[in-house]
Amino acid sequence: MADIERLLEALSNAYGPPGFEGPVATVVRAELEPLADAIQTDGLGSLMARLGPAERRPRVMLTAHMDELGLMVRRVTPEGYVKFQPLGGWLDQALINQRWVILTHAGPVPGITGIKTVHVMEPEARKKLFERTDMFIDVGARSAEDAAGRLGIRPGDPIVPDSRFTPLAGGELYLGKAWDDRAGLAVMIEVMRALRDAPPAAATTFAVATVQEEVGLRGAETSAYEVAPDVGVNLESGVAGDYPGITPDEAQERLGGGPSLFLHDSSMLPNLRLRDFVLEVARDLGIPVQFNVLTGYGQDGAAMQRTRGGAPAINIAVPTRYLHSHNGVIARADVEATIRLVADVVRRLDGATVASLRDFS
Ligand code: CO
Repeated sequence: MADIERLLEALSNAYGPPGFEGPVATVVRAELEPLADAIQTDGLGSLMARLGPAERRPRVMLTAHMDELGLMVRRVTPEGYVKFQPLGGWLDQALINQRWVILTHAGPVPGITGIKTVHVMEPEARKKLFERTDMFIDVGARSAEDAAGRLGIRPGDPIVPDSRFTPLAGGELYLGKAWDDRAGLAVMIEVMRALRDAPPAAATTFAVATVQEEVGLRGAETSAYEVAPDVGVNLESGVAGDYPGITPDEAQERLGGGPSLFLHDSSMLPNLRLRDFVLEVARDLGIPVQFNVLTGYGQDGAAMQRTRGGAPAINIAVPTRYLHSHNGVIARADVEATIRLVADVVRRLDGATVASLRDFS
């Protein structure tokens, strides 16, 4: 699939809450299979595609995670309402009055997080936030037995936001769910296509679509152990700060400003020589680059960086508005620029360059 819009649409619309990434893996595998020399799955579900001889070094590992924020069925009340456990970092306000799909053994079941109507609320109560522990999903069931028997809902079933891909502003921007991290997955797939067409001289590349990132970088931990990278590049959705109510001290990226390099988040510090190498490649290609210094946030680069004896790593992101909600926005130009940048970074990584990254004097 060379059409980036169709690829982004397929990835965004696919369901993949943590621990249930299968539908996303199906899309990713179909894309990577013709581009890779070998594809394997690790014991937790991450997909690892290799391009280049298995024994060759350096090994460059690219990661992007397949899972998105979701929920899980905790229990069904006697009246048939579904109580849930959030999976990943949700803001309570983002959960209420939204459409969801419960992925049961019998198929998808739609529902909504019901909201108490304003008509019955005292003026003081109207100013209060709704708390997740009070929330429930209304699937239209008549009772717990009805939810289990007719609709097939079981405790532990994954729940995913119901939100469809939509181009904005004539196709310059894309609205959709799960850009965190389907934007990174699209970049990774297209980087592999670019490398297939014009291969790196020195490095063997592993494109790894990881699982369970949103619940603690779990898939990156196991897959990085398997790959044993010499250098790691994580591909993520960044944090745009270009809309009302957010300051440059909170987030520095803007849509259309190009790929963003993370210099700090709560999970990792990048290798600064690797930062400088990426900047050099960007300058040669004439690609504008942005930076982000975040207080919170975590990403798979941290697991690659700390695997085995440690590896230089960096996080390169596609700026994204409204992360961790039903609707995010990215710019097509940023996706394309990130693909060009990362493909050339991989092409230029040879043994001597990787050795210089590992010089800490
Ligand atoms: Co992410």
